[in-house]
Formats: sequence, structure tokens, C-alpha cells
Amino acid sequence: MRITLDGEAIEAREGDTVAAALLRARITTFTRSIKYHRPRGPFCLAGSCGQCLMRVDGVPSLPSCQVRAEEGMICERQNAPLGLIDADLFRATDFLFPEGLDHHHLLVGSKVLGRVALEVARRLAGLGELPDKARAAVPAELRSVALVVIGAGPAGLAAARAAAEAGEKVLLVEREARPGGAALLGIDPDSPDADWVAQQARSFTAAGGELLLEADCVGLYASDPEPPANALLAVRKGRRLLVVAAGRVIVANGGASQPLPFPGVDRPGVYAARGLLALKANCNLRVGTELVVLGDGKELIDCARALRRAGYQLGRVVALGGERPAVPDLDVLLAQPSRALGNPVRALEVAVGPATQRIRCDALAIALSPAPLHGLASSAGATARWVPALNGFPLEIDAGGRTAVPWLFAAGRVAGQGGARAAPSGEAAGQAACR
Ligand code: FES
Repeated sequence: MRITLDGEAIEAREGDTVAAALLRARITTFTRSIKYHRPRGPFCLAGSCGQCLMRVDGVPSLPSCQVRAEEGMICERQNAPLGLIDADLFRATDFLFPEGLDHHHLLVGSKVLGRVALEVARRLAGLGELPDKARAAVPAELRSVALVVIGAGPAGLAAARAAAEAGEKVLLVEREARPGGAALLGIDPDSPDADWVAQQARSFTAAGGELLLEADCVGLYASDPEPPANALLAVRKGRRLLVVAAGRVIVANGGASQPLPFPGVDRPGVYAARGLLALKANCNLRVGTELVVLGDGKELIDCARALRRAGYQLGRVVALGGERPAVPDLDVLLAQPSRALGNPVRALEVAVGPATQRIRCDALAIALSPAPLHGLASSAGATARWVPALNGFPLEIDAGGRTAVPWLFAAGRVAGQGGARAAPSGEAAGQAACR
């Protein structure tokens, strides 16, 4: 099939997202940053970083990594100064304002110059332009179920299957086009795999459960009316909105890949390691061949090995600190990243003690433990606390996955139970939510 990008035809394959089709065509600059309109490319490839926003069929700022490519789709990049998408004109700010540009105080000493600066800032601000025309409203669909499970990764699948087999009426909501989440990435040999996913999904539907794919839960609210409808969920599916009244909810929406703070990390060509694995698993696509993988702990080692199994050559595996991991099959360098170079990134500069090393690559993959996506559950009253080892704020739960909210349960990475603990925590939450 064909889509167009800024008027140019691009081939896309069945099952590609818009982002996958563009990366397949070796296009890496997808959008521009809000303030200086610097080039940006996809990072997480999972709908959470906002680095791939694009105008699609006249609708601005859609995450192209979450939009399925369709024949004739019209895609446009946003915020390109003078229409020059590949030129980085505002790179000049790095030289003119080496300490950073504080637009709140720019030229405020003069009334006239201050007004000019304000007008310039106003024109630069924002991301994209309003839709070409208003679309006809699509009425929301109302549903009512006993239990909603958000996320069909290992924890959500196990929770939904356990609850459905206990006789509960369960709706399982998944953002991606197929269930499985992290289990499909082949990261952790001790965690469930694709066969396990298929078997759980079969058992779930055989027990009467309903699986809703490409459906994104965007809101979770305590419901005012009396029980059994304790919760209201807003679920976006394509252009439709589903409003689901539920007696209980299990949140198992996992985590979000995080970058590291160092110069150049926001350039096109820097990806989350899990994003690259998802791209290979879902669209059979690799970006280049030689990768540098940068990260920390077990996540770094597991992702580096999984990327190698996915067909990448590992130029170097860079561990951020601590002791050199005892992994004879990987060439691990203990170093701190200094900067990423090129657009797209073609090298990583690292500090090894007082020395600097430059490592060439096709792309840079960052492998840090994903941060728990606690926002949905927190907004409904669940408690999340900072845990440095988990790189974020997991939800606080008891052994049965109960949160501080009586009708709300959590399982898997969002509750600090990632990897091999995800499925057992889901099973426990699924059983507890039925009692
Ligand atoms: S939101 Fe699309 S790459 Fe992160």
C-alpha cells in the first residue's frame, strides 16, 4: 500500500504503523521540538514519548507509532521552519545562547524589542495547526461490565484469564493490535513467551472473556452512582469513544521506556531498546544493523541479548556504572555517555575515566528499566511512591493486588512486579478482584 509524507509517496506494508513505514523508508526526522523546532524522531515506539507526532489526514499531533498505515493516508510533518524539515536552523541557538535561552526574560529591557521577542516566541510556540475541518461527532458507546482489565501483557492476561475462569464477566482492553505486551519481545528468558500468550488468550475467550484490541484507556474515574458501577472508564478505539461502567478495575498497563539526560539524546536515531524489539516483533523491521546499547543492570544485558537475537550487530554495550557485569558473551564497556553525534545519530561519545572514546553506530538503543505507568490508577486515588531501583513510581499494592481504592487493583510492572513476577501478580489480582 502507499501513504504520502509531505506529498512524497512511501510504500507501507500490511500491519505497519505510520512510524514503521517511514523508518522502513529510512526517514528518521518525524517532527520538531516545541521551542526551537529542533529535529526529533521516534524514541519509545510505544505511544508514550511524543517524539513522533505528525499530522495524519488533516488531524494534528497524532503519535505516528500508534497509527496503523492505511492506503492513501496523508501524513505531514509539523513545525518545520520555512518548510525545511531536514535543516536544523535553530541549531544557531546553541552558539548564540550557550547557557540556554530564557524566553520569559528575552529583551525585556526594551518595550519595543520585548514586543518583537514576544511575537517571535508566539509564532514558535505550539505544535501543529488545527484540523482542516471539524469532523462529524461520533456518538459514544456505553457499556457495563463487572470487571475491566487494562493492558493485555503478561500481568493483564493472567489477571483477566483467572477472573474469567472464576465466572466473572471480564473486558480486557489492550492498546496494541495483539495481546502479549512485553512477552512478545523475547527480553527475559524466565518470563512468559508467545506460546504462553496464545494459550492464555485462548483460555480467556473460552471462559467468556472479551478482548478489545487497539483500544486505549485514556481516563479512569470513580463513579458517583451507587455500586455495582464503581468506576467509569473512557476508552478510545479509533474515532469512537467507549464509556465503560465497571464494578472493579485491574490496572496492568506496564511501564514506559525512559531516555537518559545527556547532550544529543533527543536526536533522531536514539531509540528505546524495547521499542526496537517491538518494531522487529510487530513489523519485522530493524533500523540499520549496528547498534550501540546503553543502559543499566539486568535490563541492559537482557535487551542487548534480545537485540542480538533479533538480528542486530552490537557495536558496543555500554553499562552506566557499578561493576562490569560477568557476561562473557557481551563486550561490555563501563562508561558515562558524553554526547550523541549526527542526525540521525551515527556515534556515541563516552567518558571512560579521564579518557574519551567515540563509538560508531547506525543507531543508539537505551535500555533502562521502564518507568511504571501509574498515572491512570493514581488519578483514581491509588498511591504511588518513588522507588529508585524501579526508575519510577510503582503503585502500592498488597499481596492480592489491592490498591488504596477498594474497587481498584493493579498487577505487573505498573505495581513494581515486572519480568517473571508479572504473570503471578496478575493471577493474584484476578482472583482477588473476584472475591
Ligand atoms: S510516542 Fe511514538 S515514538 Fe514515542
